[in-house]
Amino acid sequence: MLTSEAIMPDKPSDRKETSLSCSIGAIHNIDESEGTVILRGEFASIVFFFVNENTLRVKLFFGGTPDMRATAAIVASAIQPVQADVEEKDGHIVISSNALHAVVNPQAFSLRIFNSEGVMLLEEKAIAWDDKRKPTFTATKSADSHFYGFGEKTGFLDKNGERYEMWNSDVYEPHVQDTDALYQSIPFLIHYDYGKPAYGLLLDNPGRTTFDMRSYEDRYTISLQSGELDLYVLNGPSIKDVVKRVGVLTGTTYMPPMWSIGYQQSRYSYMNQEEVLDIARTFRKKQIPCDVIYLDIHYMDEYRVFTWDEKRFPKPLEMMAELRELGIELVPIVDPGVKKDPKYSVYQEGVKNGYFCRKLEGDIFIGKVWPGLSAFPDFTDDAVAEWWGDRHRFYIEQGISGIWNDMNEPSVFNESKTMDLDVVHGNNGNPKTHEEWHNLYGLLMSKATFEGMKRGLGGERPFVLTRAGYTGIQRFATVWTGDNRSFWEHMAMSIPMVLNLGMSGIAFAGPDVGGFSHHASGELVARWTQMGAFFPFFRNHSVIESTRQEPWRFGDQIEEICREYIGLRYKLMPYLYSLFYEAHTTGLPILRSLIMEYPEDRKAYNVCDQFLLGDALLVAPVYRPGVASRAVYLPDGIWYDERTGEKYDGGKSVLADAPLESVPVFVKAGAIVPRQSLRQYTGEASVEPMSLHVYAAPEGQSVSGRFALYEDDGRTYDFEAGIYSMREWTYEQSLEGKRLGCDFVHSGRDIAPETVLVLHQVALSPTDLTCSGEAEISAWNYDKESRILQITIHARHSFELIIRS
Ligand code: GLC
Repeated sequence: MLTSEAIMPDKPSDRKETSLSCSIGAIHNIDESEGTVILRGEFASIVFFFVNENTLRVKLFFGGTPDMRATAAIVASAIQPVQADVEEKDGHIVISSNALHAVVNPQAFSLRIFNSEGVMLLEEKAIAWDDKRKPTFTATKSADSHFYGFGEKTGFLDKNGERYEMWNSDVYEPHVQDTDALYQSIPFLIHYDYGKPAYGLLLDNPGRTTFDMRSYEDRYTISLQSGELDLYVLNGPSIKDVVKRVGVLTGTTYMPPMWSIGYQQSRYSYMNQEEVLDIARTFRKKQIPCDVIYLDIHYMDEYRVFTWDEKRFPKPLEMMAELRELGIELVPIVDPGVKKDPKYSVYQEGVKNGYFCRKLEGDIFIGKVWPGLSAFPDFTDDAVAEWWGDRHRFYIEQGISGIWNDMNEPSVFNESKTMDLDVVHGNNGNPKTHEEWHNLYGLLMSKATFEGMKRGLGGERPFVLTRAGYTGIQRFATVWTGDNRSFWEHMAMSIPMVLNLGMSGIAFAGPDVGGFSHHASGELVARWTQMGAFFPFFRNHSVIESTRQEPWRFGDQIEEICREYIGLRYKLMPYLYSLFYEAHTTGLPILRSLIMEYPEDRKAYNVCDQFLLGDALLVAPVYRPGVASRAVYLPDGIWYDERTGEKYDGGKSVLADAPLESVPVFVKAGAIVPRQSLRQYTGEASVEPMSLHVYAAPEGQSVSGRFALYEDDGRTYDFEAGIYSMREWTYEQSLEGKRLGCDFVHSGRDIAPETVLVLHQVALSPTDLTCSGEAEISAWNYDKESRILQITIHARHSFELIIRS
């Protein structure tokens, strides 16, 4: 614990001002080869490479040829090089694709990047380095600059005024606003200034780096402790465009099995087989939906990965059989530390084959974690990754298809909290020190796990959860935000954290619901469950010896609230699952910040306590105790309180009722939200048709909306072979009437032909319902009281429904 001594006067500061005396100098030569343009300066060179029309890689290098290999953050499919056009204009060198122009002043190197409309995106102020060749990149910002992205960081949504370190760290201390580094490092920012195009900047450097948007009013800096300055500039113009482009560059969120989108229950630890089954049976007995139960470290034999503690779990196959009956998946934890035990086969194999991380001199790096002294696989080598991945057959054979990766920063119980920096990673023959490659360790572990599980599961989709990661982690794993606490502040903080993860390309993320350490109150669990029901990742987890946190631990009222909101998530599953598919195909997040959907709204840039699920639902959680109403900011448009149907005009804040039993949710006029009947788990069969909720505007007003409804088997990769269905629903309302369209965009899979259309906010009974195409209306009903028009339609092909009243 720190005392006031920390701020003793005249204490020597450990933050040294580095002297950045070196710079590129004047450009004396231009080399063009293999799609790259190299500008050779007096003291260093810089290479430009259009990865694609909208993404420019800019890399500083010393010596003859640049190393153009990228880390695992970048996907090969993103590289669609375009020939750069180089010209000299008004004393400047201009390097262009069709979408971006880099303008360099060759006298004393300086760089500006413009879009195809001639609007400046980024203005570099300095690329400089110190005597140890540690570079700092500086670019301008304005008084109106806003910054998003940076992955998993504490604090508010807009990161202007913040300074962050990228160094994957196991932080058990409470996560607060001045926590610089957490488990994930996503060296990516979006710069946005109202009325101007947004741009993205990705630094592909997995060493320790610092992004400083605080120290200077007119500029921000990116400083490196090791490795190279390797930047990717991503074109806008909108924030959404930037997010999509980072999805192209670093890959999009993997398509998870549907069960992993259901409710998940965890505890450090469910101690034995009987306890696991008891938890599972209780969910079913109490009719609280649940898809997953976790096994934390106590399932293992003295924390040896790929083993069972046979006393606690004497009959895992029997346990698995009952869980399968109940429709519950089991996800065990797998940490990277392999117990140093000459009698343990994983350790033996690792040593014999040279699979563990080593110092240059050849000694295996040994560090202490849960199993005691342990060795750590060197996932940078493909052979090691494959070995580790294949080891997961141990779990697959038990019927397990999801794995939880933890402690993979890697966390080590020593002073530096991680592996020694002079460990040398093999990296397939391109060795890197741990200092240079630290932030990649977690990503490479999850990649090995995901790929191994995928190989072993024979066509089924794996689920992988990870604590540590680097840019690109979304391709292999879901991110949970580590050891938060059962603090109201931590509940509130998880909103901007998950929103910024989403804007960094990581759509499938969420915190431990209820908070991990400390002791949760029933009220906190109820409120957090209400919020978590709308988050992409929805898991309740708590630490050993804390208050038990399952939904039924706090009495009937809290249990009922949890049941209802967990149930609501299952009812919204068709909507949510379609958003997952959208994230998978476009890179867009599932949970969205207001600024992303309403970029012109000057009130939206830092809204941290509410969010959009997709673009139709606006959720305003209650994140303080004893609160029964809250202000909700509604952006432009017509909004309805989803609970009461009350109408509001957007562009202002309203006071919403929020008694403990309910959380304010607003839905936009024009929105289309598919729902299904309640299930106890995602795979539970139901005969009830899907319902499609459409929200009309008041009579005489115009509105339109669309929703792409995606369906597949929820479990396999058959969708990649076209075995899925995609129906694009559209709603248009004007003075002439209401039109609902359904376009069968892709019909690779049989779907239930019946849909119940539920049109909300319909003022008058229809006088005419006309269906085109081969669709048939089998029943309809209008209820004046609730203003709901319900129409049951059978359709196997595209159709259009016109409603006149
Ligand atoms: C770490 C994880 C936590 C887990 C615990 C024991 O603290 O973050 O989720 O329960 O280790 O494995």
